[in-house]
This record gives sequence, C-alpha cells and structure tokens, in this order.
Amino acid sequence: MEFLSYSEEDTKNIAMKILKEHVNAKNLILLYGDFGVGKTVFVKGIGKVLGVSEKSIKSPSYTLVREYYGDKKKLIHFDLYRIENNHDLENLGFYEYLNDLNSLVIVEWAQKVDLSLENALKINFKILDDNLTRSIIFNS
Ligand SMILES: Nc1ncnc2c1ncn2[C@@H]1O[C@H](COP(=O)(O)OP(=O)(O)OP(=O)(O)O)[C@@H](O)[C@H]1O
Ligand SMILES: [Mg+2]
Repeated sequence: MEFLSYSEEDTKNIAMKILKEHVNAKNLILLYGDFGVGKTVFVKGIGKVLGVSEKSIKSPSYTLVREYYGDKKKLIHFDLYRIENNHDLENLGFYEYLNDLNSLVIVEWAQKVDLSLENALKINFKILDDNLTRSIIFNS
C-alpha cells in the first residue's frame, strides 16, 4: 500500500494510521530510506499514539538506540546508520527487546543489517521530485 505525504504533519498522520490499522500483533517496524526522507518524523507519529512526547524523540545517531516510555508500552528506537554488523545489534539488546511484549521496536536505516524477521512491518520511504512529497510504501 502506498501513501503520499506532502508535509511533516502528513507523515506523522500516516504513521499514526499505519500503527492503528496495520501493526496489530507485530512489535517491530523496519524503516528503509535515505537521509532526510522522514524516518524520524514517522517515529514521532508513532510516539503520538503511544503517548511519548514528540520532543523527546530524536535520532539515536551516536547511541544507536533510545528507549521512551509511553502510556502502556515502551517505544524502542534504533538508528542503525552507524552500525558495523549484526553482532553489534545483539550487543545492543535488539533481540531481548523483540521478545519483550511491552515494547514496540522501530528501526531507522534497517537496510544496514541483514534482518530476515517475519513478524515485521517494513516501510519504504522515497523523496519525490518536488523534494517535499514523500512516497511511503508498506507491506501489510
Ligand atoms: N512530507 C514530508 N514528510 C516528512 N518530512 C518532510 C516532508 N517534507 C519535508 N520534510 C522534511 O524532511 C526532513 C525529514 O527529516 P528526518 O530527520 O525525519 O529524516 P530521516 O529519514 O530520519 O533522516 P536520517 O536518515 O538522517 O535519520 C525534515 O526536515 C522535514 O521537515
Ligand atoms: Mg532519522
């Protein structure tokens, strides 16, 4: 399914809609796409649904992972741009988070590691020619 986003607000609303209607039993969302496509903006939309304040959500560039406390669930936010290999992912506790039913895990730059996980929602972002419009495509 493809959504077109024309603004940051649109991207947040699309994230909210996808979380409410398509994530269901999944607890992992993988985000694919280049610099500045809106991955972090999308995470802020997810945070809105979970009750995480928007300001607290920032790309975890140096730490690679950040935890935020929502009303009921934790939001675990990875940014793998600087990751070296799959081994690092284990060291960051990635698989423990996945097994924690109280956590929703969301990953920016998922293309940096080889993740063949079945129970994941995968979302691809692209910037269209006008530099503002984003194509957001996901498999449900
Ligand atoms: N339709 C749109 N949706 C989301 N962001 C948009 C849109 N149009 C313009 N922008 C701008 O694009 C930028 C997206 O930044 P964001 O940090 O979310 O990207 P990112 O994919 O997380 O990048 P990085 O790979 O560096 O982490 C913001 O500056 C935002 O204002
Ligand atoms: Mg980002």
